[in-house]
Amino acid sequence: IKTIGVLTSGGDAPGMNAAIRAVVRRGLSRGINMKGILKGYSGLINEEIIDMTAVDVSDTIQRGGTVLYTARCAEMRTEEGQKRAAEVCRKHGIDGLVVIGGDGSFAGAQKLANLGINAVGVPGTIDLDIACTEYTIGFDTAVNTAMEAIDKVRDTSTSHERVSIIEVMGRNAGYLALWCGIANGAEDILLPEKYDYDEQRIINNIIDNRKKGKKHHIIINAEGIGHSQAMAKRIEAATGIETRATILGHMQRGGTPTCKDRVYASIMGAKAVDILLEGKTKRVICYRDGEYIDMDINEALAMKKSISEYQYEVSYSLSHNYSKNNQ
Ligand code: F6P
Repeated sequence: IKTIGVLTSGGDAPGMNAAIRAVVRRGLSRGINMKGILKGYSGLINEEIIDMTAVDVSDTIQRGGTVLYTARCAEMRTEEGQKRAAEVCRKHGIDGLVVIGGDGSFAGAQKLANLGINAVGVPGTIDLDIACTEYTIGFDTAVNTAMEAIDKVRDTSTSHERVSIIEVMGRNAGYLALWCGIANGAEDILLPEKYDYDEQRIINNIIDNRKKGKKHHIIINAEGIGHSQAMAKRIEAATGIETRATILGHMQRGGTPTCKDRVYASIMGAKAVDILLEGKTKRVICYRDGEYIDMDINEALAMKKSISEYQYEVSYSLSHNYSKNNQ
């Protein structure tokens, strides 16, 4: 391999810059030409490709977002788009590609690998919803950002003795919601994987807690359930307690990456280059059982992941079952 390209694709995630920096510098240290592909697969298809030097990634490890920009690219889901992307790689001499993104981005890398471009995926998403890995770049920063925001909402919620529904991102996955629910000590946590649409149970919980003297009631609602504003209206009508909905939105995707995100991203980025140079292709980098490993993309994409029953049960018991006297 003489030239490695790197791109970020799908939703950005804090720590992506640390991964790009690691890919570029690891490659350069091994005598490889490094290219940055702008705006994900759409930049690849449109040949938005730049040479990358060590200095180009200076002063980026601490920055949120992605210096290579990112996009969701519908064209890459078509055979024509995939062929064009492979052609562009060949034209620019890119014989190794590192794709930093989520499952959708890995599917693009899988197609390019099938078309003869050596490709490796690095997991980058705030949603933590990639089955093959216990860690995805960006989750740690996003969950801390959301946790801090929820603490702030809780202050005002308590002052006004309100119920607050706080909606966190995660697409169809409830990891951000579960972690915030536990970390913020929420009274209710609504996860797409678990939600049974029994709103009466939540209403009863709110009324019970008021009787016990609780001044606030925090409900963390996952984006995969959504409809927080409508839910707030229904809960207010049923309980007679003022209820507000706050949708945290894209602020969860920004900000300075945590130490954990920077370190994991750096190691994963470097490993992606190492395995390309070992002659491997169609792989993804994963973190499992305390180790950074690589796995076949087909196998990785076929895997399923779900919320831990035990963690969910613990979170529920900490917010619902109190002492013998039910205090
Ligand atoms: O995958 C990351 C994520 O932030 C999800 O949590 C959310 O569902 C989605 O991206 C939002 O995407 P967009 O920024 O394109 O609206």
